[in-house]
Amino acid sequence: MGNMLIAENVTKAFEGLVAVNSVNIKVKENTFTMLIGPNGCGKTTLINCCTGILKPTSGRVFFGDIDITGWKPHEIYQVGFVRSFQIPLPFIGLTVIDNVLGAMRNPGESPLLAPSVSRWADVEEKNMAHAMDILAKVGLEKHWDLPSSSLGAAQLKMLEVAKGLSSGAKLIALDEPIGGVDPASAHEILSHVSKLKDEGLTFLVVEHRIDIAAPFADYIYAMELGSLISEGTPDEVLNDPKVIEVYLGKGVEQC
Ligand SMILES: Nc1ncnc2c1ncn2[C@@H]1O[C@H](COP(=O)(O)OP(=O)(O)OP(=O)(O)O)[C@@H](O)[C@H]1O
Ligand SMILES: [Mg+2]
Repeated sequence: MGNMLIAENVTKAFEGLVAVNSVNIKVKENTFTMLIGPNGCGKTTLINCCTGILKPTSGRVFFGDIDITGWKPHEIYQVGFVRSFQIPLPFIGLTVIDNVLGAMRNPGESPLLAPSVSRWADVEEKNMAHAMDILAKVGLEKHWDLPSSSLGAAQLKMLEVAKGLSSGAKLIALDEPIGGVDPASAHEILSHVSKLKDEGLTFLVVEHRIDIAAPFADYIYAMELGSLISEGTPDEVLNDPKVIEVYLGKGVEQC
């Protein structure tokens, strides 16, 4: 199994604050890899450095064997590495399906080709079928024609995943996919993610709700104060005294 993502000695400093301190992570292909750690320990900053939102102060980021360090977010998106945000950002004026279709290519969007319906009608039909298929994979098929603004927190997170899938993503980074979501819906979201993994996708998931998410994880990285403090299988990491100490007094599941 190859590595889908490698962060090599990634450091990000904001003025005097070192938010991410020489972190090394590898996300193997076709895994659910999780990144945990207390508030402010640098999880989102690391994801931002890997997805082009931020430029690392030092270190390198590889997507497969492509060095994507310093690439722009849309360039990283185009090679198949997509991320969701802690707070979902749908195009709220659009319906659920239009959000998904928006990430697909359609020659009809070109002003030159738009008048020649025959040149893009079949593409549009195929895109529509593909978009419905994707919505079914994330459990949103019944909501396809609703405005995305009518979706609840859990459904908005799944819409983010659907948008990623429609762009042909191979690796999806999810920043707190079950944050603010009730336990039953949280379990449902992660079950969808797990099924997508079974179909060949790779996930890097930042999550505080370790009790719900860890059973889905193949591998976990734990951070504290910008540095990695532990890595391994869920059992290894959650029983690591360093990790227990970080969460001491809070209970691992509440962090
Ligand atoms: N753009 C920025 N400018 C300055 N400081 C920042 C910036 N972004 C993040 N930080 C700081 O970097 C540190 C790490 O923040 P980050 O958001 O990566 O933490 P996190 O682990 O994702 O936390 P949470 O679990 O609360 O989402 C924090 O001290 C934060 O205040
Ligand atoms: Mg964060």
